[in-house]
Amino acid sequence: MDSCKRLAFSEAFVSQKRKIISAFSLGVGVSLLLLLTVLNNTSLTVPKVQVFLLGSDSNSSFSWRFPFSARYSNGSVSSLHRAEVNVSSECLEKKTLLGNLTGNRKNASLHDGHEEHEDCCSLKNFTVSGKENGHAGNSSCSGHDALGKCEEGLVKASNGSVGSLFGECDIFDGKWVRDESKPYYPMGSCPLIDRDFDCHLNGRPDSEYVKWKWQPHGCDIPSLNATDFLEKLRGQKLVFVGDSLNRNMWESMVCILRQSVRDKKRVFEISGKTEFKKKGVYAFRFEDYNCSVDFVGSPFIVRESTFKGTNGSFETLRLDLMDRTTTTYHDADIIVFNTGHWWTHEKTSRGEDYYQEGNHIYPRLKVLDAYTRALTTWARWIDNNIDANRTQVFFRGYSVTHFRGGQWNSGGQCHKETEPITDGKHLRKYPSKMRALEHVVIPKMKTPVIYMNISRLTDYRKDGHPSIYRMEYKTPEEHASAELHQDCSHWCLPGVPDTWNELLYASLLKYGKGHWKS
Ligand SMILES: *[C@@H]1O[C@H](CO)[C@@H](O)[C@H](O)[C@H]1NC(C)=O
Ligand SMILES: *[C@@H]1O[C@H](CO)[C@@H](O)[C@H](O)[C@H]1NC(C)=O
Ligand SMILES: *[C@@H]1O[C@H](CO)[C@@H](O)[C@H](O)[C@H]1NC(C)=O
Ligand SMILES: *[C@@H]1O[C@H](CO)[C@@H](O)[C@H](O)[C@H]1NC(C)=O
Ligand SMILES: *[C@@H]1O[C@H](CO)[C@@H](O)[C@H](O)[C@H]1NC(C)=O
Ligand SMILES: *[C@@H]1O[C@H](CO)[C@@H](O)[C@H](O)[C@H]1NC(C)=O
Ligand SMILES: *[C@@H]1O[C@H](CO)[C@@H](O)[C@H](O)[C@H]1NC(C)=O
Ligand SMILES: *[C@@H]1O[C@H](CO)[C@@H](O)[C@H](O)[C@H]1NC(C)=O
Ligand SMILES: *[C@@H]1O[C@H](CO)[C@@H](O)[C@H](O)[C@H]1NC(C)=O
Ligand SMILES: *[C@@H]1O[C@H](CO)[C@@H](O)[C@H](O)[C@H]1NC(C)=O
Ligand SMILES: *[C@@H]1O[C@H](CO)[C@@H](O)[C@H](O)[C@H]1NC(C)=O
Ligand SMILES: *[C@@H]1O[C@H](CO)[C@@H](O)[C@H](O)[C@H]1NC(C)=O
Repeated sequence: MDSCKRLAFSEAFVSQKRKIISAFSLGVGVSLLLLLTVLNNTSLTVPKVQVFLLGSDSNSSFSWRFPFSARYSNGSVSSLHRAEVNVSSECLEKKTLLGNLTGNRKNASLHDGHEEHEDCCSLKNFTVSGKENGHAGNSSCSGHDALGKCEEGLVKASNGSVGSLFGECDIFDGKWVRDESKPYYPMGSCPLIDRDFDCHLNGRPDSEYVKWKWQPHGCDIPSLNATDFLEKLRGQKLVFVGDSLNRNMWESMVCILRQSVRDKKRVFEISGKTEFKKKGVYAFRFEDYNCSVDFVGSPFIVRESTFKGTNGSFETLRLDLMDRTTTTYHDADIIVFNTGHWWTHEKTSRGEDYYQEGNHIYPRLKVLDAYTRALTTWARWIDNNIDANRTQVFFRGYSVTHFRGGQWNSGGQCHKETEPITDGKHLRKYPSKMRALEHVVIPKMKTPVIYMNISRLTDYRKDGHPSIYRMEYKTPEEHASAELHQDCSHWCLPGVPDTWNELLYASLLKYGKGHWKS
């Protein structure tokens, strides 16, 4: 089926030279608007981010404790006894999940332990890797025999007085359910976001797409308490690093948090920017909380470069070097990475004379191989430069697209979609790049990285894209053009990325460092 084919999308291109031709089976996409934007967006300048003036706030109620607990099917709150499960701590950690956080669900059928031992590390999507993390006191924890110690360490860390952190729940495995309490901020209420995500202001008539919440099968996740989030972020820096899908998530986070701040003027982009599409670094400061929420545009994470060959110079991608932006985020307290959509455009998917390591240009390299090499460079950089005692690292997975009846440039559409996919049979295969990340790259790292596997949950949401509402059209011509060049990659805000942030919050409460520990 055409509509089931994985269609890819690249949001923006650094130069006109990269104008794309749809030639490969993977497909390549770009929205016209974005393409146009890019034409005057070639700047690679990276403004220095300056943060932190003084902040003060009397509202320092910091006592919100979050009871994590796992449930057995008999409804009891689990305790240390769970440590008797004979799996390595690493596995335990990977399986560690959120228990009944809100306590309003009766059963936890996934908790009854049938699947306990087998494939404990490979089947779970909520991966924390790394031998050691701040929670457990001893690096021998990765071995199969240090269980008791690890349990003790982890449980101590989680000493929420109610139960242990352990459970069987994969928060990325679930379904969408109606939630009339959503969205987190009224539609059209957040003036900070890029206009292409503000579907409501751009004239989108339906609004049902904001009334959904993600319900994991095995547990509940808390809704994102913005006041609590900001309290915990006090004095800290949260940075989203990656492509425009991470910009989408970042803008969602800024809007959610801003909604809880009384004096909205005290939330501002530190250099006064109001558009965020140019490559660069942006930082929203929350003055009352002395913290900032930043976005660093780095679509490949690794470095775009130029190779001077005998025939002249040509563009390459250095798989062995990080993008130059690392200095802007290496000291952050929380970093959320992503890279994905740019690995689908022509150059990356064709892979001819494009990928470079040292002085070597690969005449031809498969994109999956290149992606794995790039992320291995990323992983090495993390292990060598990130202070795991301070910084919590996330990798947000691939957000799938929903072009139907064509591709980005051949009339692919999603604008008539007003409901999520309900039948799981219509979902696509787990992306191979994410498989590589999860099973090849992350397991070799020593720094714990939390992988947010959002591919499947976003796959359900064919209804949430800006589609033709990425712009406000005033003439029939604009309307016709909008129909031809829809954005079925990014997401309306409020919308799906709010849920990613909800899951980020839940993960931070579970694994975070310092005062993120509940
Ligand atoms: C703290 O902030 C919350 C949310 O804005 C508000 O409801 C509460 O009244 C504030 N408390 C104080 C002491 O200002
Ligand atoms: C519930 O199950 C747990 C673990 O199997 C057990 O320890 C506990 O006694 C049970 N509680 C009840 C009320 O059956
Ligand atoms: C736990 O695993 C070890 C080896 O991995 C094995 O020797 C031991 O018998 C197991 N214990 C239980 C209770 O299954
Ligand atoms: C978890 O759920 C059970 C049953 O639904 C409830 O009795 C218990 O109080 C809940 N625990 C927490 C910490 O909410
Ligand atoms: C709880 O689980 C029991 C058996 O495990 C099942 O019979 C019951 O229907 C479940 N209740 C809910 C509310 O899911
Ligand atoms: C991750 O989860 C998705 C669905 O939630 C599943 O299809 C996929 O196989 C999982 N990945 C792995 C590696 O288990
Ligand atoms: C880790 O545990 C082992 C054995 O349990 C112990 O010998 C070692 O000293 C511990 N190391 C640290 C740093 O606590
Ligand atoms: C941790 O929980 C135990 C009981 O489970 C309690 O005795 C201890 O005081 C708690 N420690 C902290 C620091 O809360
Ligand atoms: C949100 O967090 C704040 C600060 O921790 C707390 O005062 C408030 O009660 C929380 N709100 C909800 C709905 O849990
Ligand atoms: C604000 O946060 C920075 C660290 O991020 C810290 O050095 C500074 O002391 C904080 N300022 C106040 C007033 O808390
Ligand atoms: C250089 O140009 C020659 C002749 O046009 C061509 O055969 C060769 O592939 C080119 N080499 C590179 C690296 O582009
Ligand atoms: C991290 O913390 C541990 C324990 O507090 C300490 O031993 C270790 O040196 C720290 N690592 C770094 C890189 O600061």
